[in-house]
Amino acid sequence: MQGKAGISAFERLYGESMWTNASKHPKLNGIFNNAMVGGARSVVPALIDGYGEVFQGLTSLVDIGGGIGTTLQSIAKAFPHIKCTVLDLPHVVETAPSCPEVEFVAGNMFSFIPKADAVMLMVTYHSLLSRAMGVPV
Ligand SMILES: C[S@@+](CC[C@H](N)C(=O)[O-])C[C@H]1O[C@@H](n2cnc3c(N)ncnc32)[C@H](O)[C@@H]1O
Repeated sequence: MQGKAGISAFERLYGESMWTNASKHPKLNGIFNNAMVGGARSVVPALIDGYGEVFQGLTSLVDIGGGIGTTLQSIAKAFPHIKCTVLDLPHVVETAPSCPEVEFVAGNMFSFIPKADAVMLMVTYHSLLSRAMGVPV
């Protein structure tokens, strides 16, 4: 949501982006990441069952802003021929549970995206859009 001065409500209240704030507060970081896990668990089985054919031809896949890797863990288990990589901010990747099927890359998607046959953005597209359009969310 955009405020009068062109900054998000979160930034207006806390003086920094939600991601920067979460990087300084491990408890918030954990709560947020676990909330994302809940969302992924409820959606990804339907994605795999209903649209599995989109993954068949891939040998590598990057989940940009993939959180602690719940989505790609499920995809990697369902499609073991795909090399799965999560890109997320360092404070998120640091807390990801180890998962042999998924590689984690800590970084900023605006600076670097690992090469792959395909990239996916789940509940992250708004960050890209807002940056591209200069409209904070
Ligand atoms: C709303 S969450 C979605 C998480 C996951 N894709 C899902 O659907 O469960 C957005 C994710 O984007 C990550 N993120 C935000 N800005 C980023 C950036 N500049 N580079 C990489 N990841 C970023 C956040 O840390 C967070 O994990």
